[in-house]
Amino acid sequence: MKKIGVFTSGGDAPGMNAAIRAVVRTAIYKEVEVVGILRGYNGMIAGNFIPLQSHSVSNIIQRGGTILKSARSKEFMTYEGRKKAFEQLQKAGIEGLIAIGGDGTFTGAKVFYEEFGIPTVGIPGTIDNDLYGTDYTIGYDTAINTALDAIDKIRDTADSHDRLFFIEVMGRDSGYIAIACGIAGGAELVMVPETLTTIEEVVQTINQGWKRSKTSSIVVVAEGDEEGNVHEIAAKVAARLEGKYDIRVSTLGHIQRGGSPTARDRILASRLGVAAVEALLAGKQNIMIGVVNDEITHVPFEDAIYKEKPIRQEFIELVRILSI
Ligand code: F6P
Repeated sequence: MKKIGVFTSGGDAPGMNAAIRAVVRTAIYKEVEVVGILRGYNGMIAGNFIPLQSHSVSNIIQRGGTILKSARSKEFMTYEGRKKAFEQLQKAGIEGLIAIGGDGTFTGAKVFYEEFGIPTVGIPGTIDNDLYGTDYTIGYDTAINTALDAIDKIRDTADSHDRLFFIEVMGRDSGYIAIACGIAGGAELVMVPETLTTIEEVVQTINQGWKRSKTSSIVVVAEGDEEGNVHEIAAKVAARLEGKYDIRVSTLGHIQRGGSPTARDRILASRLGVAAVEALLAGKQNIMIGVVNDEITHVPFEDAIYKEKPIRQEFIELVRILSI
């Protein structure tokens, strides 16, 4: 393989730049030309390619976001869009791809591979940590630390005003962000899509705390929780608490996607970036590179996307025990 392309797609995640850097430098080290594809699949369709050299990725390891920009491409979901992308890659002589993103990115890569046979290796880059076959995704550690910092700050004001806070964190259909910052932030309760926590259980937990003279409480709610969005949940609980608490809602939102990546995310991104290029050049295709028990793994896209990555029940239990 003489020339490969690298792109970021879907929601950005801190550490994507560190992954791009690792991909570019490994390719150059192996004497392979490397091209950056701008704005994910949209850029592939439009032929927005830029040559990348070693110095192109200098001074980016510490930066959040992605220098290659990102997008969620509607056009790539159509056969016509993918055909255009294939033609652009052929015209540019790009023989293999490194895709940095989440399940949407890998779904696109898998279909593209099946239709046009372009070898692709994926690097898991999403704050949601929802991909099977890797213990961690790039951006997750930074996101939970960002959310935790916000939760700590909210706890200060919750305590001063004797308030009950419902704090919504990101994660789409996954509760990984919620459970991690719920444990680390000492939340009274964590509501995640993977396990149903009923409004009745929330009311009971808050009431028990009230009886033990707790004057403030934090409930962390994953955005995909089955009981509804954070405002609906807070309203339902408020209706049952008979004015015991002054209730506030806080949605942390996109702050969780930005910022300088943690050391953990930079190291993970560097390891995955090197392993991805090595795998592609060794003839591997249609796989994601992951890390399980600190060892590099190769996971078929099919598994990474569709297999479940359940939250450990032990973590849910931990919050229950520690919030008494
Ligand atoms: O997948 C990352 C993520 O931040 C999810 O946690 C969230 O549901 C979604 O992306 C938000 O997407 P957008 O930035 O397109 O609103």
